[in-house]
Amino acid sequence: MVSVTTCILTVLIGFGSFVRSYYTEEYRPQFHFTPEQNWMNDPNGLVYHNGQYHLFYQYNPNGTTWGFMSWGHAVSTDLVHWKHLPIALECESDSNGNVLEMFFSGSAVVDVNNTTGFAIPVGKDRRGHVINSTPMVAIYTSYYPTAHTQSNGVVIRAGQQSQSIAFSNDNGLTWTQYEGNPVIESPPAGYVDQYQNFRDPFVFWYSPSSKWIMVASLANEHTLLIYSSDNLKAWKLESQFGPENAKFGQWECPSLFPLYVDGNNRAEKWVILMGVNPGGVITGSGTQYIIGSFNGTTFVADPSDTYDPTQIPAGSIVFQNFESTSSTFKELGWKATGDFALFGPQVASSVTTQTINGNLGSGLLTTWIVDDSATGTIISPKFIITKNYISFLIAGGYYPYNPSTAGTANDNQVSFSLIVGGQVVHSQTGADAENLVWRSWNVAGWFGEEAYFIVTDLNTNSWGHLDVDEIIFSDTPKVEANWNDFGPDYYAAATYNGLPTADRIAIGWMNNWAYGGNIPTSPWRSAMSVPRKLALKTINNNVLLVQQPVSSLSSLYTPSLYSRKFSSLKSGETEIPVPAPYNARMKLTVSFKRGTGSKFGVILRSNATNTQETIIGYDFLGQNVFVDRFKSGDNAFVGSEPNQFPGHFIATLPSTLTDSITLNILLDWSSVEVFDGNGQVAFTSQIFPLDDSAQVKLFSVGGTTRTVTVAINGMKSSW
Ligand SMILES: *[C@@H]1O[C@H](CO)[C@@H](O)[C@H](O)[C@H]1NC(C)=O
Ligand SMILES: *[C@@H]1O[C@H](CO)[C@@H](O)[C@H](O)[C@H]1NC(C)=O
Ligand SMILES: *[C@@H]1O[C@H](CO)[C@@H](O)[C@H](O)[C@H]1NC(C)=O
Ligand SMILES: *[C@@H]1O[C@H](CO)[C@@H](O)[C@H](O)[C@H]1NC(C)=O
Ligand SMILES: *[C@@H]1O[C@H](CO)[C@@H](O)[C@H](O)[C@H]1NC(C)=O
Repeated sequence: MVSVTTCILTVLIGFGSFVRSYYTEEYRPQFHFTPEQNWMNDPNGLVYHNGQYHLFYQYNPNGTTWGFMSWGHAVSTDLVHWKHLPIALECESDSNGNVLEMFFSGSAVVDVNNTTGFAIPVGKDRRGHVINSTPMVAIYTSYYPTAHTQSNGVVIRAGQQSQSIAFSNDNGLTWTQYEGNPVIESPPAGYVDQYQNFRDPFVFWYSPSSKWIMVASLANEHTLLIYSSDNLKAWKLESQFGPENAKFGQWECPSLFPLYVDGNNRAEKWVILMGVNPGGVITGSGTQYIIGSFNGTTFVADPSDTYDPTQIPAGSIVFQNFESTSSTFKELGWKATGDFALFGPQVASSVTTQTINGNLGSGLLTTWIVDDSATGTIISPKFIITKNYISFLIAGGYYPYNPSTAGTANDNQVSFSLIVGGQVVHSQTGADAENLVWRSWNVAGWFGEEAYFIVTDLNTNSWGHLDVDEIIFSDTPKVEANWNDFGPDYYAAATYNGLPTADRIAIGWMNNWAYGGNIPTSPWRSAMSVPRKLALKTINNNVLLVQQPVSSLSSLYTPSLYSRKFSSLKSGETEIPVPAPYNARMKLTVSFKRGTGSKFGVILRSNATNTQETIIGYDFLGQNVFVDRFKSGDNAFVGSEPNQFPGHFIATLPSTLTDSITLNILLDWSSVEVFDGNGQVAFTSQIFPLDDSAQVKLFSVGGTTRTVTVAINGMKSSW
């Protein structure tokens, strides 16, 4: 009797713990896609077919770091709940264990008209009529690490990247590689030396010309190639695009798709979306977009959407361009301390690869003196803020100004900061890169006030230097690129084929190559962003690519956990009671207007003393939305390289006194995604807090915030 009871209990407990333990490891995302185990990167082959959203992805079947790249596979009927399927395209090795072919990123289409000839009869209907398959075709990059001759006679060079296809006649479950692979063996004339960096084909059906169109990347050339085909096998080069806008590091995972401006189906524009790595908006990986037109052969960017880095906005005041390379900082009226005391501006080419400032001259401020070991500060003369924006070129190491360590023994910042009233009100660090990029700060909140700049270099490690140039004051920001996301963890974004133009849905890899191989998760590594619906929206006379999480995520909402309106929220912190486990995974929407305070926002995943906290808010004076993960938990997992994980990320979002600003926040066990009400700024950011850092607080800095409404729903697990 006893033993039977024990046995039943054991079974029940065993079953219970099995159910509870699935997808509940520390940091395991609860409503984001992750593979059960192993390494994942780019989303691939996003296609909607027969009621299913397919998600293929770069996958290492053998471990939690990059390697043996294969196409993992999952499907969903709602973009929320995913079902894992067997690996679709699996890395191939020879009998000696040499990897012959990896399956790199690409796309998928449904060949409804059998243009490929891959369709086969798959059965008969009740009346005896033959039912034919509708082939799904994957178009991907074959990466061949080892030189060899394929069974079809094609001679492969070591490290070659070529475009190949595979098809499935059972809705994506099993795949057959086309015997004529690769279908595009090499880059075209003029780029033949780029055969090791030619990849990531995105293919779609262009009905006006009844052609398949492919856009693929020459990653190091910052050039996209556009091809056309009748059958997905024979491809004709039609045109090329780039380099343009953010053009450092590599261009990867491009896509090209139409959208309607403001929902008007007679106002169609085309969007190029692509990954830039390194060279993203913060450091490492980033995603930029360019709006223009496409006529079946050629993409032409809108003139208003491309930016010449050598031009400064009309009416700019040049505060300092560091062209007097024969002077000391002292002679320029700047005050340099420490190792910089006797120095002045340098000639760029002697210290850095200053790639973009062409006709802007060759002199710049640099803290690289012989090597990275120099430390000290360089302080500008005081000036009065008379324009809305300060823009400048910056390069160097990623060691951001951190208010909680500034002035302490742990201060290791390498930064360019703006000081008003004795406070750092804006600060920018480098990106562990030498190319100078434009960054802009909105300073309208300090109009008429006295200010100065300080360059602080307290770091002697690798990348412990900063370069600053061309400091200008202007009415409009100096834009360098259109960023699709202002956080650090949104890369290789891809969109679904097979949906109407108005339903363009994107998924990004929620990680960053700067540290992605080291994030502290196991037995999986990397998650996808939530799927986001894209649109083009006219805001202040500019057409912008905007986004919001797909509405089907609402199926995971719990009933309201908290809903309150404060006509005026007092200065300081106000804790909000949210029951576990939803204090660590929730959807939080907050709207607010400026009061007497200077900043307002939400603190998530914090403990009582705020020694851990992730801060999301709005800076009324700096006119930006921000996400701060300096203290969001484990951020020391990056190996020997400088740690590019901690930081304070901003996106300019101008507002007036009467504007109501809305932030939609999705918090999961190891990430936070933030969207403003228009979807014009988005942030995707991983965080790795302790389980018991789970308090939720509102904060208002330096005064009140008005008309604050907060609504919180828990997010149920989709696993
Ligand atoms: C890695 O994965 C490939 C494909 O799944 C497999 O053939 C190979 O044996 C694995 N190698 C190792 C070292 O595990
Ligand atoms: C698809 O096209 C190929 C080549 O034209 C043909 O052999 C095949 O029968 C077609 N499949 C179907 C189901 O019609
Ligand atoms: C299939 O053929 C029809 C009729 O010619 C055409 O309208 C449609 O665009 C084609 N679609 C695809 C995806 O090939
Ligand atoms: C598309 O535009 C390009 C560049 O403007 C032009 O050269 C080409 O002829 C156009 N093609 C078509 C099919 O209209
Ligand atoms: C807050 O978290 C830190 C870890 O970052 C921990 O050391 C500390 O004890 C916590 N404090 C409180 C009050 O929970």
